[in-house]
Amino acid sequence: MISLQMMLLDVDPTSYKTVFIGYPMWWYTIPMVMETFFDTYDFSGVTIVPFNTHAGSRDGGTYETIKEREPNAIVLDGLAVSGGNEGSEDTKTEIIDWVNGLKLNE
Ligand SMILES: Cc1cc2nc3c(=O)[nH]c(=O)nc-3n(C[C@H](O)[C@H](O)[C@H](O)COP(=O)(O)O)c2cc1C
Repeated sequence: MISLQMMLLDVDPTSYKTVFIGYPMWWYTIPMVMETFFDTYDFSGVTIVPFNTHAGSRDGGTYETIKEREPNAIVLDGLAVSGGNEGSEDTKTEIIDWVNGLKLNE
């Protein structure tokens, strides 16, 4: 998981143009470790692409939460995937369509 790698390695997020940040929905919001993650790192000027798994809450407003935690980042529309369906063909298609729709190469 990117976030854990960044916590273990001394990485400067601002050296990246775009980062994908994924997490499971916990108690209707981002897991507490993600709060620590956003407290620890400054994503100013970085494009954050959020995605999450869930068991019914979808994104639960967490993309807005990330915008609040990282007000100087550009937070794109995320993708909420139902937990347990991550490997299904439908989800693969959904992910491909979502990534292509982000138009990151333009
Ligand atoms: C402590 C805890 C709290 C959770 N709270 C929510 C929640 O509020 N809304 C929701 O849709 N799913 C909730 N879930 C379900 C997880 O989001 C779901 O199991 C996870 O996204 C599936 O990903 P995984 O296979 O990586 O665990 C919760 C799960 C745990 C363990």
